[in-house]
Amino acid sequence: MNNTPILDVCCGSRMFWFDPNNPNVTFCDNRVVPNHEYYPGRFIEINPDIVCDFTALPFEDKSFKLVVFDPPHLVRAGKKSWMALKYGKLQDGWPQMIHDGFRECMRVLDDYGTLIFKWSDVQIPLSEILKLIEVRPLFGHKSGRLNNTHWLCFMKMPESYHQNESEVLL
Ligand SMILES: C[S@@+](CC[C@H](N)C(=O)[O-])C[C@H]1O[C@@H](n2cnc3c(N)ncnc32)[C@H](O)[C@@H]1O
Repeated sequence: MNNTPILDVCCGSRMFWFDPNNPNVTFCDNRVVPNHEYYPGRFIEINPDIVCDFTALPFEDKSFKLVVFDPPHLVRAGKKSWMALKYGKLQDGWPQMIHDGFRECMRVLDDYGTLIFKWSDVQIPLSEILKLIEVRPLFGHKSGRLNNTHWLCFMKMPESYHQNESEVLL
């Protein structure tokens, strides 16, 4: 059950939210990290509303108007590095995990709902990710390759509508 129109399926420490306690958002992650100083003067806390796996979300179909998906993007990061602490790390079998995560995001999204996907291609190019998923983005941050971070926008169109199948040129 949920009462919010917005879902962040892997919120981490909510760094990109202007209001990290926005009551219109359900914040999920598969980790809880108690607040602590990981570097002198720098703190991190991961405290999701719901601890769950984005490949098996505990929500009914079409529950949200907006879903945000910012999965881990690193395959190489030291176990104790601040990067792994903040962003998590991709494990063996990650292509299937990203595929299943997208499928779940689209399942819980309402018709005409929006999915925002964020990807940093420092280690894995966005083109590899797009090969894994069935849906095509509408538009995105094409110059993302210059600073390694892409933001893509998808909409869940009901089946009777045109399904975007265009190639994404990056
Ligand atoms: C790139 S970080 C998200 C950063 C976040 N958007 C922010 O603004 O701070 C990715 C997050 O995905 C979480 N994660 C990794 N695998 C997951 C899974 N299967 N289900 C749910 N969360 C997962 C990690 O714990 C990590 O916090």
